[in-house]
Amino acid sequence: MEDETTESRNKARLAIVELANMISVPMSLNAIVRLKVPDAIWQNGSNTPLSASQILTRLPLSPSSASADPDNLQRILRMLTSYGVFAEHLNASTSERSYSLTDVGKTLVTDGDGLSYAPYVLQHHQDALMGAWPLIHEAVLDPSTEPFVKANGERAYDYYGKNPEMNDLMQRAMSGVSVPFMKAILGGYDGFEGVERLVDVGGSAGDCLRMILQKYPGAREGINFDLPEVVAKAPAIPGVTHVGGDMFKSIPKGDAIFMKWILTTWTDEECKLIMKNCFDALPAGGKMIACEPVLPEQSDDSHRTRALLEGDIFVMTIYRAKGKHRTEEEFRQLGLSVGFPHFRAFYIDYFYTVLEFQK
Ligand SMILES: C[S@@+](CC[C@H](N)C(=O)[O-])C[C@H]1O[C@@H](n2cnc3c(N)ncnc32)[C@H](O)[C@@H]1O
Repeated sequence: MEDETTESRNKARLAIVELANMISVPMSLNAIVRLKVPDAIWQNGSNTPLSASQILTRLPLSPSSASADPDNLQRILRMLTSYGVFAEHLNASTSERSYSLTDVGKTLVTDGDGLSYAPYVLQHHQDALMGAWPLIHEAVLDPSTEPFVKANGERAYDYYGKNPEMNDLMQRAMSGVSVPFMKAILGGYDGFEGVERLVDVGGSAGDCLRMILQKYPGAREGINFDLPEVVAKAPAIPGVTHVGGDMFKSIPKGDAIFMKWILTTWTDEECKLIMKNCFDALPAGGKMIACEPVLPEQSDDSHRTRALLEGDIFVMTIYRAKGKHRTEEEFRQLGLSVGFPHFRAFYIDYFYTVLEFQK
């Protein structure tokens, strides 16, 4: 009995040391993305295991980086191996370690369309490095202002709007995450079938709408609805009309409405305003199809639960202290409160759930 207690205390002390040092994990991930290590290992799909010294010779470093240190790179690679980003190959006779990419590491490789999860990693860490994270406790003490605003004096989106480099990173982060997600839901969800006029609320540059219309060429019209300054910069897309406006005031009419990653960043009262405007823009039987992260009821230690709970803290810290990841039941109740009698949830992608509200 005593042994068990000693062992569990030992494990507990180890667990708190791991938690205390966890900042090494995202910051090391940030480092390997900045150095473009995944592209260096990938080498057009060969994914041949490379030592840290070999990786350094393949990085697009400036000549002044001749002093780059393979030992320090290896320390980072080893640590991220234990988090499943790299696979380590240990040569028993030479003790040399070499690294290839796991499936997790491959998400950071730039694909033929220039997309990957690398900009998402950078954008999330850039926000973190702007001084908001040390102020998370302030979101508890005073949720009226986000930690990001407390640290920087303005909202994250206002800051992105004024900073072209950050705006570009944010757009690339969105595309890198949206495109694989849209491919997954278009393969497993048929709710767009038969829709003739589809409105994407907060559609940004129109990437999601473009993919939906490609899959359903029968849809006659796509309306990409976003803030006037956002649609002003959106590229022309065949079959898509860009419409500028404010979703809190009114939403263009359509026989279905799509939105992705919108409700999460707003408070319950704000969500009700957006959803009521959607309800008013739909005919009887029309669907509002929202794709949002949906929290499980149980706070278990699965990767999915952790990713969703961690993303929730990101929203609280960077975007909106009272915006949040919600449970399926919370979404259902929001829909009911603005008049949607029917609700279904489709778990196709592990992070974003498709939430179908029908009038
Ligand atoms: C998190 S982004 C999601 C973009 C896109 N749906 C996606 O998933 O890639 C939120 C979008 O909502 C837009 N937005 C914010 N406030 C808005 C408003 N009042 N009316 C219309 N769109 C708005 C933003 O400009 C931005 O494009």
